[in-house]
Amino acid sequence: IRAHFTAGPLSGRRVLVTSGPTHEPIDPVRYIANRSSGAQGTAIARALADLGADVTFVTGPADVPPPAGVEVVRVETAQQMLEAVEAAGPVEAAVFAAAVADWRVASASTSKIKKQSGAPLPVLEFAENPDILATISHKTTGRPRLVVGFAAETDDVVAHATAKRARKGCDWILANDVSPATGIMGGTENAVVLISDAGAEDWPRMDKTAVAQRLAARIAEALTA
Ligand code: CTP
Ligand code: CA
Repeated sequence: IRAHFTAGPLSGRRVLVTSGPTHEPIDPVRYIANRSSGAQGTAIARALADLGADVTFVTGPADVPPPAGVEVVRVETAQQMLEAVEAAGPVEAAVFAAAVADWRVASASTSKIKKQSGAPLPVLEFAENPDILATISHKTTGRPRLVVGFAAETDDVVAHATAKRARKGCDWILANDVSPATGIMGGTENAVVLISDAGAEDWPRMDKTAVAQRLAARIAEALTA
């Protein structure tokens, strides 16, 4: 059930948020995943809905429940996430907060892979997943006016994220330093740099909810300017 009635600067504006990890099957009982909790994407969807936006929330299997008042589309794999994003239809802004698996198992087995002592160990072959953010950013028709990506980096965070923004063709990138020393991976706080045409803007370390609210406010500003 969507809350079409929330008053706010984003009232009546359609936006999309991807969130969470993806799971890539190996066989019917096993999969490859990553440590994304879905917390940041969920907070962003909630903050956008709180500003009145009509939010489609495409989420992989996350640890945290989806926010209320958004249209939830649950997916498992990167390929399903791309299909769900395409099926969501035109939106004015799209935020790609999901930690999409870069690779999937090239041919997942439909039968459980059995252990046989003495037999050769199984070898998994991988195939590259579609890049959802780049696919949407590079659309020539029906591209959202504002496309926002994330970049989890280590070492020279701004340089890596600036290159990533150019490669993917998105408008903004929120870069964060996920070196173990920052304690950000899996934590409740985030420290981001917003990279846009205007350059790199350092945001102080704050709660993921505060990051989400600040981003939602910036999106509202950009769409209503
Ligand atoms: N992303 C996506 N689809 C993918 C991979 C990434 O939509 N298959 C999006 C993420 O949601 C994020 C941005 O792209 O907004 C950057 O993801 P990241 O993993 O940092 O970028 P990659 O291009 O996969 O580069 P890396 O080798 O650093 O993982
Ligand atoms: Ca990646």
